[in-house]
Amino acid sequence: MAATERGQWQSRFGFIMAAAGSAIGLGNIVFFGANAYKYGAGAFYLPYLIALFCVGIPVMVLELGLGSYTRRAFPPSLHKIAGRMGEFWGWFALISATLITMYYITILAWCLGMLLGALGPLWQPEQTLTAFKEVGKLPNPTGYFFEMISQWSTVIFVILIWAANLWVVAKGVQTIEWVNKIFLPLMWLFMGLLIVRGITLPNGLDGLYLLFTPNFEVMGNIEVWKGAFSQIFFTLSLGFGIMTAYASYLPEDADQVSNPLIISFMNCGFEFLAGIAIFTMLFSFSIVPKASTLSMTFFVIPEGIARMPGGPLLVSAFGVLFFVLLLLAGITSSVSLVEGLASALIDKFSSSRGALVRVFAAVGCLGSVAFALPLIVDPSLASNGTLGLTLIDLVDHWAFGYGLLIGGLMECILVGWVFGAKRLREHINIHARIKLPALFDLLIKWVIPAVLLFIIGSSAWQELKGIYGHDFVIQGFQPWLPWLCFAIFAAGGAILALVLTLAKDYHQPLQTEEEQSA
Ligand code: PHE
Repeated sequence: MAATERGQWQSRFGFIMAAAGSAIGLGNIVFFGANAYKYGAGAFYLPYLIALFCVGIPVMVLELGLGSYTRRAFPPSLHKIAGRMGEFWGWFALISATLITMYYITILAWCLGMLLGALGPLWQPEQTLTAFKEVGKLPNPTGYFFEMISQWSTVIFVILIWAANLWVVAKGVQTIEWVNKIFLPLMWLFMGLLIVRGITLPNGLDGLYLLFTPNFEVMGNIEVWKGAFSQIFFTLSLGFGIMTAYASYLPEDADQVSNPLIISFMNCGFEFLAGIAIFTMLFSFSIVPKASTLSMTFFVIPEGIARMPGGPLLVSAFGVLFFVLLLLAGITSSVSLVEGLASALIDKFSSSRGALVRVFAAVGCLGSVAFALPLIVDPSLASNGTLGLTLIDLVDHWAFGYGLLIGGLMECILVGWVFGAKRLREHINIHARIKLPALFDLLIKWVIPAVLLFIIGSSAWQELKGIYGHDFVIQGFQPWLPWLCFAIFAAGGAILALVLTLAKDYHQPLQTEEEQSA
């Protein structure tokens, strides 16, 4: 299949917008603030920057360089450089990505629900909870959120968000490109408005002191480092080969040193601005940010918006702005997640995009609907209450907490050791204006795998000590449930990845154009 039949970006600018659109998402707008707060705000910056430069940017170079080298999606790229074993890990990563896609889309569906609320009811003082009868009334915005997620109407929001994603992906890369070209400038504009509002609020600037005053003491805490590395992987869309898929639609002479630098800086610049917008707003109203990402998105930030001066109309306007921003940023990210899997299946089974979309529509929607299930598991609202939220907690713990980092670890090992970091670096350097130094090899072969192994290992150790198991007690659920989920995730993922790897040989020779013309 020639590269042009797979589709190609119209311009380098379009590619950069699409890749930045993938990177900039919920991770930048809310998860960063939540993590920064959880790990000591100013204390988070140094580990974050170290993670960015030592791990994030090199892995971004690796993923984009790999896509340019093979011009294939992630599993076939890894097949090309490391045979079937490589392909297996490619599919395994995409299976974790698919689980994350499912709940990422559910969260976006809730953002859509909150957007409708922001037009009015969200700003009422309290909400009667019809489903959580034991609780009675709850102050808004928390009350509104729980009322919304305990209604079946959220399932309709999930279907709408999936439909939007599938429509874009079914149309192909050039549609992904134009959607990003429109959405990305809008995101910067909306973020600009939120920052101006944040820093002009009384005492808003005080939030910045908290965000930027370094605290070297917590630096010895391994949790802070783990948080920084996970955040970098998530925010830069790494570990799932999404960037490899996007780079595979570029012409062969793409400069895969400057592209990853531009994309990473755009992403982290946006994240930095989002941090300012959120910390200034929350501190102006003395609202304590929450460490949990979902509470930050649905309770804490809306609470800040609700207290903004200027009357109900302005509050509504900023609320709508915030949730539209989340939707724009989130959809450009979820589209990339869906495209990552679509491109892999298209390359493997030579299927048409249209046919794939129908399969996705069924499987993906079902998965996201499971997370949106409004059935009540805990009427007292402890442990979040609905079955959907409980499932998100479980899947997030394994697919997000481990899937991303294992994906990153395996791609570094396969490229660094099986294929050769030097070989990839030399290939990237053919078309790069700024040349990659030999330090790249050291990072890919030694430093990054060592760091990731340490983090994965120490988390697994904590797990065995039972911290997760004990934390996770939901009325009516057994403490072994998280472990059952882990077993299903690990064994089910491995079997599915194996089946996909062995299902079919690649139809087309996995050669680069250089090799074909040689
Ligand atoms: N980077 C996206 C965000 O910050 C999430 C994402 C992760 C997208 C992995 C694609 C792959 O929200």
